[in-house]
Amino acid sequence: MRPVVIKGDRVSLGVLTREDLHTVWKWYNDRRVRRYLSFPHEVFFYEDEMEWYEAIRREKSREKVFAIVKNEEKTLVGLIGLHNIDLYSRNAELGYFLGPEHWGMGYATEAVFLAVRYAFEWLNLRKLYARVFEPNVPSSRILERNGFTLAGRLREHQYVPGKGFVDVLLYELLREEV
Ligand SMILES: CC(C)(COP(=O)(O)OP(=O)(O)OC[C@H]1O[C@@H](n2cnc3c(N)ncnc32)[C@H](O)[C@@H]1OP(=O)(O)O)[C@@H](O)C(=O)NCCC(=O)NCCS
Repeated sequence: MRPVVIKGDRVSLGVLTREDLHTVWKWYNDRRVRRYLSFPHEVFFYEDEMEWYEAIRREKSREKVFAIVKNEEKTLVGLIGLHNIDLYSRNAELGYFLGPEHWGMGYATEAVFLAVRYAFEWLNLRKLYARVFEPNVPSSRILERNGFTLAGRLREHQYVPGKGFVDVLLYELLREEV
């Protein structure tokens, strides 16, 4: 049984296991998912996935990656992570994705809500930020619904296949704004 780290109404954040890696690997290579993440063009081997898992396991003070799981069926629906955790300036970057078969159900909105609570209450951070490629409207919506505000944009900063050079939007959330 997967340990739950923080429980929500419909989804929870749980510990990522080796058994999840095959599903995660499949999603990482799915162009619908990849398009709006770092390195949209990249192709990942299963061995990369295992190395990444070992790296996040070893780098716990800098990275916290959680499995997003449905409370009822306990199915893995996606991942959410706090990256580049800076315990001196007390900030971190938030990133997430869901398997395409789980899109449009509000799971990502709740997962961000839970990750924000984890970051501020358990890690005692002060600030979170996130980068969104401008055409990724659902992702902006998720952040805005969780209280993030637009801090700025990097113009024509990212090449996204099928979209060209797009602006990268920078969102931020301070602890007292929650
Ligand atoms: C971004 C992602 C997690 C969104 O997943 P999702 O299941 O659609 O998320 P949710 O259902 O929680 O919320 C999506 C919100 O966007 C809205 N939305 C969806 N498509 C939209 C569109 N084309 N225009 C405007 N709003 C849209 C939804 O209505 C919903 O808002 P609401 O709750 O106010 O109605 C998912 O598309 C994904 O994994 N994409 C690939 C990876 C990625 O982009 N990660 C984020 C990088 S910053």
